[in-house]
Amino acid sequence: MLRYVTTNEGKVREALDYLDDDVTQLDFDYTEVQAAELGPIAAHGAREAYRYAGEPVLVDDAGLFIGGFDGFPGPYSSYAEDTLGVEAVYRLAAAELDEPRRASFRCVLAYCDGEEFEASPDPIDRDDRTVAAAHGAEQDAQETEALPVKLFTGVVNGRIVAPRGDGGFGYDPIFEHDGTTFAEMSATEKNGISHRGRALAKFATWYPERTE
Ligand code: IMP
Repeated sequence: MLRYVTTNEGKVREALDYLDDDVTQLDFDYTEVQAAELGPIAAHGAREAYRYAGEPVLVDDAGLFIGGFDGFPGPYSSYAEDTLGVEAVYRLAAAELDEPRRASFRCVLAYCDGEEFEASPDPIDRDDRTVAAAHGAEQDAQETEALPVKLFTGVVNGRIVAPRGDGGFGYDPIFEHDGTTFAEMSATEKNGISHRGRALAKFATWYPERTE
């Protein structure tokens, strides 16, 4: 059984569109290590979740990257949403940046089942040093072993606009793609083009081979 690791119900709803019924949510709050990219954060979360659950896990880490702010809030999107709030992120962008205020949503899915992977176009993260450092001298033999993690990424480009729409979650109301904000789209429309949808489509193509 595959466990989709997130505390966010909105992500689960979107993920279930791509994954069959053999998937359940694992409401596990993994440690978000500090990194400039989503990949290492998701990979670290997948290792932690796998060690916790003992069964195959898929971690979803996503963020909003605003071009004129060198990618901010990026990996800090969750913190910025909780502290500033989505509307304030819009106001900041509107005050500081010229149109079209380009931005992208990115999603990295990190899969870990404790086993090695075949080489393929999708990257494999083998860096377990963050966990090793955190555990210091007390780490046991299992934890010193670097667990391979396979990453699937999805990106969608758009721009930052004044909030519109009631659907979706998080930054969806201020992210416009082709004239429509993600919050104005139906779940199916958003999933068809979104960062998460794109990453999930890659994963859903690969995963059946893994379980054969
Ligand atoms: P995390 O991946 O759960 O850490 O989410 C990072 C931040 O990005 C949170 O503030 C989420 O609300 C936001 N976020 C993640 N995915 C989406 C999305 O698909 N639409 C809008 N906001 C998102």
